Amino acid sequence: MLSYRHAYHAGNHADVLKHLVLVYCLDYLTRKEAPLRYIDTHGGAGLYRLDSDYARKTGEAAEGIALLQSADVKSELVQRYLALVASAGDSRLSYYPGSPWLAAQCLREQDRLVVTELHSTDLNLLQQTFKRDRRVKVAAQDGFERLLSELPVPERRALVLVDPSYEIKADYDRVKKAVADALRKMPNAVIAIWMPVVDRNRSRRLERGLTSLGPSVSVELGVRPDEVGRGMTASTMVVLNPPWGLDATLTSLKEPLMTALGLADVGHFRLQGNSK
Ligand SMILES: C[S@@+](CC[C@H](N)C(=O)[O-])C[C@H]1O[C@@H](n2cnc3c(N)ncnc32)[C@H](O)[C@@H]1O
Repeated sequence: MLSYRHAYHAGNHADVLKHLVLVYCLDYLTRKEAPLRYIDTHGGAGLYRLDSDYARKTGEAAEGIALLQSADVKSELVQRYLALVASAGDSRLSYYPGSPWLAAQCLREQDRLVVTELHSTDLNLLQQTFKRDRRVKVAAQDGFERLLSELPVPERRALVLVDPSYEIKADYDRVKKAVADALRKMPNAVIAIWMPVVDRNRSRRLERGLTSLGPSVSVELGVRPDEVGRGMTASTMVVLNPPWGLDATLTSLKEPLMTALGLADVGHFRLQGNSK
């Protein structure tokens, strides 16, 4: 039984990092006319109301997307991401968009999206959101299994987001195995993996395992020093087969992002690897 609901965390610092990297990859890969398949193994609900009881209970968006929205960050990527987030809301209600929604905005008529989700409530919301979008297939299926059955994709170009909640500790091993198997089936797939830093040794092991699989860029945004028992202290995105320019763009974001999120004195930003 899954209890994790992303609605509690939507728009927090980890979503900001993850979705900036995702939007970069989507925009880069859609510069070429050739079709692309986007596979989101852990879709979540797709759209999150920021005035919901969930969001208000934790107030996490206030320390993530809301800070970025009120800062004046001069970066094409940040402005592009903020415009996408703004377009998810309307004049009365503010929403934070999840990964499948952001991807659907960035992708084109010729592209396809496959999104899997297991939690029945989020699955229903996801199906509602995409019911009129013929490009999107929402599946009530285990994301790791679906990923392997999709690869290699007919379009021969794929972007994969692997974004579990890690509420089941076996997810750490499943991520490593699924990504290794996926690259064996489709060596040129661009695969982005999100992971939390709750237990530093565990996340370091996973990051090393992933980066040993091929060319990669890893970026980590820390919000406080690691201490046992204090929950998530940082989050990391690892991108295998990273698109050209991702490393340079992230390097240029280091200072403005840390300042905008109020992390310049308490947090950290680590970047490793480089784009081809
Ligand atoms: C961190 S959330 C996803 C957030 C989303 N990717 C985004 O960025 O907006 C993880 C989601 O994975 C779902 N989930 C957990 N295990 C799963 C599995 N094995 N296959 C598919 N979805 C799963 C959870 O119900 C949860 O909604």
